[in-house]
Amino acid sequence: MEVAILPTPADCGRVVADVLAATVTGRSAGHRPTLGLATGSSPVLAYRELIRRHREEGLSFAGVRAFLLDEYVGLPPGHPESYRAVIRRELTSSVDFVDSDVDAPDGSAPDPLVAAREYEERLRQGGPVAVQLLGIGANGHIGFNEPGSSLSSVTRVKTLTEQTRRDNARFFERPEDVPRHVITQGLGTISRAQHLLLTATGARKAAAVAAAVEGPLTASCPASVLQLHPHATVVVDEAAAAMLERADYYRYTLQHKLPHQPY
Ligand code: F6R
Repeated sequence: MEVAILPTPADCGRVVADVLAATVTGRSAGHRPTLGLATGSSPVLAYRELIRRHREEGLSFAGVRAFLLDEYVGLPPGHPESYRAVIRRELTSSVDFVDSDVDAPDGSAPDPLVAAREYEERLRQGGPVAVQLLGIGANGHIGFNEPGSSLSSVTRVKTLTEQTRRDNARFFERPEDVPRHVITQGLGTISRAQHLLLTATGARKAAAVAAAVEGPLTASCPASVLQLHPHATVVVDEAAAAMLERADYYRYTLQHKLPHQPY
């Protein structure tokens, strides 16, 4: 696992954008790269940077496919806080992504259990995901795999913890509007991606980042599953890195990266 500690959230956004852009531009002829996109606040600066590069530097997402990590259950289609609507607003409608090339679990399906199984199947057919972008919850969740999630879980319905509902209440009119259930890629599903790219900023994430990177591999910290992955990168600002014991080593490693050594 590589841990990149950068001075500011804007720097994190640029590095995350670099990795996603390299996947998109480095594709071989006839190959359609597949990105795994996250929602929430963590990826927003990276998405803004990608939009800037699209507008000013001609970065094109034509032909790229994307899968979202998760979706709320029970929001009506088109609800502004459904993750399908969020990703359109934050990224895909501002670049040349084709809407039908962006897939997400159907949180408004009559049977969410079936919708979860169908999404897992579409991920198996459409995968592997080249780069899966991840945020991290203050309790160590990735996707909406709350603590206790099996490290080899697949896409399924999960119940949000009250802490996660409170954390996400800022996006809704009233705290009670935050859905209780979600469909999320499982930790096993996420781990099938070729590259896991987790980003976190701010002091509120410091304990979760330290547990994920340096704590034990445990379902109690779902993000610790990154320790099992052959290609995982964690991009954090100084505040989110504050509780990392090996921070000096991570900084040293970054300073001495070989020329052209990718993340
Ligand atoms: C969102 C997701 C969640 C968030 C996490 C952090 O698609 O899967 O795991 O990444 O809750 O949320 P923010 O970035 O809003 O702090």
